[in-house]
Amino acid sequence: MIIAIDGPTASGKGTVAAGVAKHFGLKRLDTGSLYRAVGLALLDARVDLADEARAVAAARALDLNAIDEARIRTSQAGAAASKVAAIPGVRAALLQAQRAFAADPAGAVLDGRDIGTVICPDAEVKLFVTASLQARARRRFGELRGRGEPVTFEQVEAQIAERDARDTNRTDAPLLKAADAHLLDTTDLSIEAAVEAALRIVEAARLRRGAT
Ligand code: DC
Repeated sequence: MIIAIDGPTASGKGTVAAGVAKHFGLKRLDTGSLYRAVGLALLDARVDLADEARAVAAARALDLNAIDEARIRTSQAGAAASKVAAIPGVRAALLQAQRAFAADPAGAVLDGRDIGTVICPDAEVKLFVTASLQARARRRFGELRGRGEPVTFEQVEAQIAERDARDTNRTDAPLLKAADAHLLDTTDLSIEAAVEAALRIVEAARLRRGAT
């Protein structure tokens, strides 16, 4: 069973993906980490994030097993990820690794922006996880402050709005709810309630599939 989970930044999709993967004993790929790692590689090399050739080369050279989890989680790496993710050659370079991960016969959970629309359009279950801008900014602000990043709530809210606009308006594989994705709005949900709601959706979809 392939479960595709998409949604904007700080919507709770990562937490939901981790919870769903754990519940069903499936492996999970956080595809945002690939774009973050490419963005970080360019930042480290002090290369312009719009340098297409260097970005594509970094994407091609990416080793999924050597991603520095701690360093890709900064807001700087997130913003860089969103920029390199708009380069079609970068997306093309990362496509195969994502499809290969999803091809595991045991199934998999993948989360990102274009999983249900581009990477795994035939996924058995698709979820589109979202939340209001304010709720997402509150969560991200807490997270970044918890890690000691000196940001204000207003800065975080503006960064998220900017990222939403870039991810949604790019021409190649924009952030989009697949027509057959189930919408899960986590604005007023705790982490536990969001995971519970996702599990109910997946279970119901599995039952429907089993019945047909
Ligand atoms: O989910 P995240 O915040 O870690 O993602 C970082 C950026 O990567 C996001 O702003 C857009 C990009 N991304 C993408 O374009 N496609 C994906 N499947 C996942 C992430």
